[in-house]
Amino acid sequence: MCECKKPYYITTPIYYPSGNMHIGHTYTTVAADTMTRFKRMTGYDAYFLTGTDEHGQKIELKAAEAGVSPKEYVDKIVANTKELWKLMNIEYDDFIRTTDERHEKIVQKIFRQFYEQGDIYKASYEGQYCTPCESFWTASQLAEKDGVKVCPDCGRPTELVTEESYFFRMSKYQDWLIDYIETHPDFIQPASRANEMINNFLKPGLQDLCVSRTSFKWGVPVDFDPKHVVYVWIDALSNYITAMGFGTENDQLMQKFWPANVHLVGKEIVRFHTIYWPIMLHALGLELPRQVFAHGWLLFGNDKMSKSKGNVQYAQPIVARYGCDALRYYLMREMPFGSDGNYTNEAFLTRMNADLANDLGNLVSRTVAMLEKYFGGVLPAWKQEAFDETFDKPLHEHCAALPSLVEAQMDKLQFSQALAEIWKVIGECNKYIDLTQPWILGKDPEKKDRLGNVLLTLAECVRFVAVLIYPFMPTTPERIFQQLGVTDEALKTWDSLKSYGALPEGIKVCKGEALFPRIDIKKELEVLSPADDKADKKAEKQEKKDEKKDDKAEKKAEKADKKHEEPTYPEVIDIDTFFQSKIQVGRVLECTNVPKSKKLLQFRLSFGKDGERTILSGIAAYYPNPEQLVGKQIVAITNLAPRKMMGIESHGMILSAVDDEGNLRLASVGEGVADGALIG
Ligand code: MSP
Repeated sequence: MCECKKPYYITTPIYYPSGNMHIGHTYTTVAADTMTRFKRMTGYDAYFLTGTDEHGQKIELKAAEAGVSPKEYVDKIVANTKELWKLMNIEYDDFIRTTDERHEKIVQKIFRQFYEQGDIYKASYEGQYCTPCESFWTASQLAEKDGVKVCPDCGRPTELVTEESYFFRMSKYQDWLIDYIETHPDFIQPASRANEMINNFLKPGLQDLCVSRTSFKWGVPVDFDPKHVVYVWIDALSNYITAMGFGTENDQLMQKFWPANVHLVGKEIVRFHTIYWPIMLHALGLELPRQVFAHGWLLFGNDKMSKSKGNVQYAQPIVARYGCDALRYYLMREMPFGSDGNYTNEAFLTRMNADLANDLGNLVSRTVAMLEKYFGGVLPAWKQEAFDETFDKPLHEHCAALPSLVEAQMDKLQFSQALAEIWKVIGECNKYIDLTQPWILGKDPEKKDRLGNVLLTLAECVRFVAVLIYPFMPTTPERIFQQLGVTDEALKTWDSLKSYGALPEGIKVCKGEALFPRIDIKKELEVLSPADDKADKKAEKQEKKDEKKDDKAEKKAEKADKKHEEPTYPEVIDIDTFFQSKIQVGRVLECTNVPKSKKLLQFRLSFGKDGERTILSGIAAYYPNPEQLVGKQIVAITNLAPRKMMGIESHGMILSAVDDEGNLRLASVGEGVADGALIG
């Protein structure tokens, strides 16, 4: 470790090894690697941590399905993950696994410290328990068979038991955290996410968080009460410090690199990183990371890629065909960091042709080819008397300013903008060739000096570009340097860009293979997704069938809804009939459009101690931007029989009022009651 360099610590989320990593996980990891390389080049001692989050019921179940132990199951996926990162040229400093002993021991220590200092307390709550399934169910989740409440999974009777759990007093830290976020505007980026956290989660009031589980075993045991395992998020978030030796005698990394400069996370887990994690750190007496950056999602056909939905793109086939730099470039260039973007093979191939083959590839090959043709491949000396103020000066100046333009974007994690800056200069170089017309200069021996200056200008710009793209595309620069004949390592550094014109005369260029050969997009698309693939056709057919079925279901649901819209009420009902409906206050955790449905919104709701549930509601037309509902409290009936629509099961009904003019409002009780509170 070099004491003279400034430390920089960057992390990715630790991924669930419930299945192999796809291009979405690759996206975050490439971003972290790019940033690390950039920081190293610009004089920092950078440390890059990634890893896997291996505990929890889901993994336990997956392993059971596969007939292996959880550890055997995750070992295989972790090995695949490491292979993938190698393929993507990702150079992390450490890969932490939550099953590492070094991690588990410290998680136990952290949990104990929270308990001993009173941040965690034990409480009990009552619920229906299915012993064969080892599952707790809330009253509303239970099914009914012959008038008896039964487990919705196995159909066997449940029993009323009281379970003990540990809870973290989140509420105690709420005001401190609001103040911290408000006084540290860089802490949550993009800033819109900070407002979302404050308005949707913090101001409405934080509830104490249940931080232990007894319903499954695959986790870190609470060492002073081993029938409990530590809640996966407490376990997972701790990785950022356990990997640095926190709580051990060997904590030099912690001393040097904490607080982390940035946690890169997908926008869906920003809440855990900006609410629970800061509170945990504060309770431990540690500083908060300087920034949590929530990037957007790589969508696949406008839908979030997910293993469970089966709409996944993996990196391997793309890398095998086009190389890792092309994919890395695309991932970092296509969408601004912070926004969502769609992945399509077509967009990828189009960018490859336009940006890599045409713009960059052609510039390099034309420059080298002309140096060979007119100067026997040897760089001539710069001739000041042949300097052209009109054409040379602006390009020299722009190129000389490029490193700081790139740095300014990288400091904001705006990878796409940084690349856009570099490509502006590439574009300018290509224009410069058209304007200076070296092929005409080449015909006139008197213009030799001028021609030399033009080609030197181009070669120097190409060198700048090669150095600057290194963090994004680690293998391409060396291929460019080979063609340019640059062997001196000092000319490949960021520092060497401080003075424009460092390329020495006399070095010998050498034309090589095209960096990125132009591709036939139509043909490639067929290779990437063969149109006549029988399996695809079959899947397509099935999809159409499902769509029809779903359409029918939606129509049926619509009809049923209509019935509710124009109900005929009995004159009177008895109070018991009314009380058969369980009406509860719920908080919206997620709200999205149901794919292919014009009507339905899918809500993920929290009912406090009663847990979370999915409810569909036919109100999409009233909410063009359903995300705006996240964080709001609504009212729902939670003991309706589950109903499947568009392939998704809905567990309840959200209450709303609509008037004759079509104004719709969701029923609510006003803030101030806990999620899950009963209405009646
Ligand atoms: N294990 C937790 C994280 C714990 S961190 C202390 C987890 N794991 S995950 O496997 O679901 O990975 C989620 C992360 O993977 C996202 O936050 C994001 O960084 C990345 N992505 C997964 N799918 C993605 C897209 N489709 N698009 C962009 N990023 C994606 O959550």
